[in-house]
Amino acid sequence: LPSLFLPQVLQGRRVLITAGPTQEAIDPVRYISNHSSGKMGYALAEAAANMGAQVTLVSGPTNLAEPVWSNRIPVTSAQQMLNAVEQASHDHDIFISCAAVADYKVKDVAAEKIKKSQHQMSIQLDRNPDILATIAQQIEKPFCVGFAAETNNVIEYASGKMQRKNLDMIIANDVSNKDIGFNSSQNAVTVLWPDGQQSFAQMDKSALAEELIRLIAKQFEQTRS
Ligand code: CTP
Ligand code: CA
Repeated sequence: LPSLFLPQVLQGRRVLITAGPTQEAIDPVRYISNHSSGKMGYALAEAAANMGAQVTLVSGPTNLAEPVWSNRIPVTSAQQMLNAVEQASHDHDIFISCAAVADYKVKDVAAEKIKKSQHQMSIQLDRNPDILATIAQQIEKPFCVGFAAETNNVIEYASGKMQRKNLDMIIANDVSNKDIGFNSSQNAVTVLWPDGQQSFAQMDKSALAEELIRLIAKQFEQTRS
């Protein structure tokens, strides 16, 4: 049941969220990934559900339990995440792309475990598809919200990503600060949209998720009226 204590700002809306890292296989026993915990995406899924939404959570590998009121679709690689998101996006009103998608995948994944031989070895990587950009360039697209993980020039880079990817909103996340962001239980962000911005001071990801969902719901309603 949705929370009785929160405003039901997403009543009847369907929200698609990606969360966590992706893993890109090198061989049957090894992979390339990143430090994303999935906490921010799961907190957003929970907040959206508590505010009345029907939530689909496409999740890379995390240690987190499935939020009670979301439908979770587990995936491993960026390509699998793209397939799941493309299937689901058509019947969702809002897409929040919170996953830390690996930018590259291994060009030739070895069928057998790679044995050590030389003193150096290299692996050739190919660019992964951009899941968010793929959805945001569709003609009939959901309201698209991205994240921007930056260590420097945070606002400038985030704003560039919003424009290039054709987004309705972007949440700029300074990941150079070790107390917040990746793997932490707290975060501080600045949200940008085409004609405004709002900053949120450091707080628990669950509290921040509620603030972000309220803001997303408000901007979503404005673009529809
Ligand atoms: N994203 C995605 N698919 C990818 C890469 C990123 O959907 N293959 C999404 C992320 O979920 C996030 C946004 O795009 O919402 C920005 O991700 P980020 O890694 O900050 O930016 P990139 O566009 O990948 O650029 P770079 O890593 O070079 O800064
Ligand atoms: Ca990236």
